Amino acid sequence: MTGISVDIARVGVVGCGQMGAGIAEVCARAGLDVMVAETTGEALEIGRTRLFNSLSKAAERGKITSEELDATQARLSFTTDLGEFADRDLVIEAVVENEQVKTEIFQVLDQVVTRADAILASNTSSIPLVKLAVATSRPDQVVGIHFFNPAPVQQLVELIPALTTSEGTLSRAQVFTEKVLGKHSIRAQDRSGFVVNALLIPYLLSAIRMFESGIASREDIDNGMEMGCAHPMGPLKLSDLIGLDTVVSVAQSMYEEYKEPLYAAPPLLQRMVDAGRLGRKSGSGFYTYG
Ligand SMILES: NC(=O)c1ccc[n+]([C@@H]2O[C@H](COP(=O)([O-])OP(=O)(O)OC[C@H]3O[C@@H](n4cnc5c(N)ncnc54)[C@H](O)[C@@H]3O)[C@@H](O)[C@H]2O)c1
Repeated sequence: MTGISVDIARVGVVGCGQMGAGIAEVCARAGLDVMVAETTGEALEIGRTRLFNSLSKAAERGKITSEELDATQARLSFTTDLGEFADRDLVIEAVVENEQVKTEIFQVLDQVVTRADAILASNTSSIPLVKLAVATSRPDQVVGIHFFNPAPVQQLVELIPALTTSEGTLSRAQVFTEKVLGKHSIRAQDRSGFVVNALLIPYLLSAIRMFESGIASREDIDNGMEMGCAHPMGPLKLSDLIGLDTVVSVAQSMYEEYKEPLYAAPPLLQRMVDAGRLGRKSGSGFYTYG
């Protein structure tokens, strides 16, 4: 890694949901010029409010000064037109966990981003990076940069090279996440779930199956892991935080990859998503939120 320069000043973030907003915040707080794209003006407004509220909370808690708050906000711009990403050095895609949607975005980014060695990264939790890489004419410049939720708080980033990713792209991504953003990175092969979700998702699905079969109440399941194993959050609360639609999508990708029953989404989880109970972000999931 020594000697690798990382000339990344302008970052694009596609998607301003839970993760996109958090990633944009991390990059802007690191002093970078950040442009955020969403599908519609309404989604953009929701995302901008989410991001600015998080920054205001950071200021209230004394994590940034009021001058830093103003400067960070000034480094952020918002658009619904991916064409405005032409001058970006790095783009991080963080839209819904849907292969077709992500593939189309990578095709557009390939067309619009002009810098020859720009990095095109995905925050996907489970979709094979190589599928996104080969949708572009620069598969050597596509890499997985997988943040954790909430991105401004969690220290870890998983770096996932596709089979096509060059060593140069991977090294620049590592320098960027560690030296520029101050995160800790681990590397994983391009296998669905990488390291953390490959371990976490079967555990969350087991907890949902346990709740579904009536073995214990949701509170007892969560308290069991919080008070018995010192986890900061029980598995049902954590599923609500991640987003139940995301948990289902990641489980489906992993089931598709490995064909193991432990990755199969329990019927209750699927029905909750069908009902629009997506967890915290929709106001209800295993719990109800104000
Ligand atoms: N939720 C987590 O804990 C978590 C953690 C790590 C990684 N991820 C991954 O991050 C990605 C996003 O997850 P999330 O939790 O932020 O989801 P989310 O539902 O909160 O946000 C997704 C956002 O993408 C936007 N979007 C959809 N299509 C778009 C398009 N074509 N262009 C621009 N924006 C578009 C939506 O409007 C929405 O705001 C997924 O790939 C997920 O697997 C999620």
